[in-house]
Amino acid sequence: MSMLQFDDDAARRIQRLYSTPDVVQQRAEVLALLAAQPGERVLDVGSGPGFLVASLADAVGPSGAVYGVDQSKPMNTVARDLTARQSWVSIDDGDALALPYADGRFDAAVSTQVYEYVADIPAALAELRRVIRRGGRVLVLDTDWDSVVWHAADRERHRRVMAAWEEHLVHPHLPCTLPGQLRGARFRVVRRSLLSLFNPVYEQDTFSALIMEMIAGFVEGRQGLTGAEAGAWLADLRERGAEDDYLFSINRYCFLAVAE
Ligand SMILES: C[S@@+](CC[C@H](N)C(=O)[O-])C[C@H]1O[C@@H](n2cnc3c(N)ncnc32)[C@H](O)[C@@H]1O
Repeated sequence: MSMLQFDDDAARRIQRLYSTPDVVQQRAEVLALLAAQPGERVLDVGSGPGFLVASLADAVGPSGAVYGVDQSKPMNTVARDLTARQSWVSIDDGDALALPYADGRFDAAVSTQVYEYVADIPAALAELRRVIRRGGRVLVLDTDWDSVVWHAADRERHRRVMAAWEEHLVHPHLPCTLPGQLRGARFRVVRRSLLSLFNPVYEQDTFSALIMEMIAGFVEGRQGLTGAEAGAWLADLRERGAEDDYLFSINRYCFLAVAE
């Protein structure tokens, strides 16, 4: 069965999900860690809806340049709309495994929640290293889906739903291997950070309230889960919310590294 497809519907959902205050805060932390400077050339691999590209463009200014590259045309359409007024931004169609840029072209690069979808991590990191100048920095952020804490009344059904959701990407537990894989690609890891999203109550404009809908839609028909079971899982979480008995958290793991 296929993983999550970044089609028109997913692009709209992700645009909405990544507009929540939770993810806005995550981006602010990523931006602070990368610390892009005026005049720098920065690449965002798997730029998705383009929010990070737009903020990076503000940081480097018109004397710099920001390139977003993504293999999803619907995502790139959203990102081009968002950055239309920033003439020093380019949003390109392309694959993380074959970046359409010359060697050593960039001072810095970022890739948030992308490599977890890419099967061949050594090849993807080698490609990232190729386009970064020596001494340039990269920031890679991914999720470990084992880090999710979510209050569900039916724990057995919840475990099955989360197991089925792991099929939405190739590497549901990538972060623990990233420092070693970055070293293998000739990067020196200089900083490791944990970014947590925490929803202690159920509210509409939060990461967990929106991702639960995506999860319920995705898991139906996987690992023996029926639509009724997926719906009951969703109703259970919402009931926890209505009863003020809710809790959700998830961890992102972030690695800042320098090209050797
Ligand atoms: C979960 S979204 C994250 C988007 C963005 N990095 C962010 O954090 O806002 C994952 C993105 O990675 C892109 N993607 C996945 N595999 C890719 C690949 N091999 N090459 C380029 N983009 C890829 C998808 O199209 C999607 O836009």
